Amino acid sequence: MKEVKFEFQYDIYDDIADLQPADAELLKKARTVTRNAYAPYSNFLVGAMAKMANGEFVAGTNQENASYPVGICAERVLLGNAATLFKDVAIEAMAISYDSTDVKSDHPISPCGMCRQALLEYETRTGKPIRLILAGQEGKIQVIKTANFLLPFAFNSSELG
Ligand code: THU
Repeated sequence: MKEVKFEFQYDIYDDIADLQPADAELLKKARTVTRNAYAPYSNFLVGAMAKMANGEFVAGTNQENASYPVGICAERVLLGNAATLFKDVAIEAMAISYDSTDVKSDHPISPCGMCRQALLEYETRTGKPIRLILAGQEGKIQVIKTANFLLPFAFNSSELG
């Protein structure tokens, strides 16, 4: 028997002013775009903004549906938009934030499992890590070097032969 440890490092910032300017700009855009979310069922409006390797910005917001499982998260809306608008262009960084009428937006959002899988596929297909900037409208900010860290033991295409 061998015990194996998995760990990763990430950064926590107390304030947006402490981020590097490009990350601060991206987070501001993600915070703002939450208002374009369609989330009448959860009242949880998520905004994601990507800085592409070609310098362009691409947004995504969650889009819910009366048939609840049809709804899609902001991150996967963004990934679809990015791949469609800028085929094969890597995402350098993605900021994700949220707003809500029901809960305080005062701590970092945590991408769901399905989005982690989708983020990982995007990293793999472009060959570049996506730096994640996770935050609410206020409070601490987490910066994670690669989405890959968020999904250890991920299922991937190498299993498919
Ligand atoms: N949601 C996202 O869009 N991204 C996340 O990282 C977490 C959850 C959405 C899905 C649903 O529309 C609402 O937030 C509540 O779960």
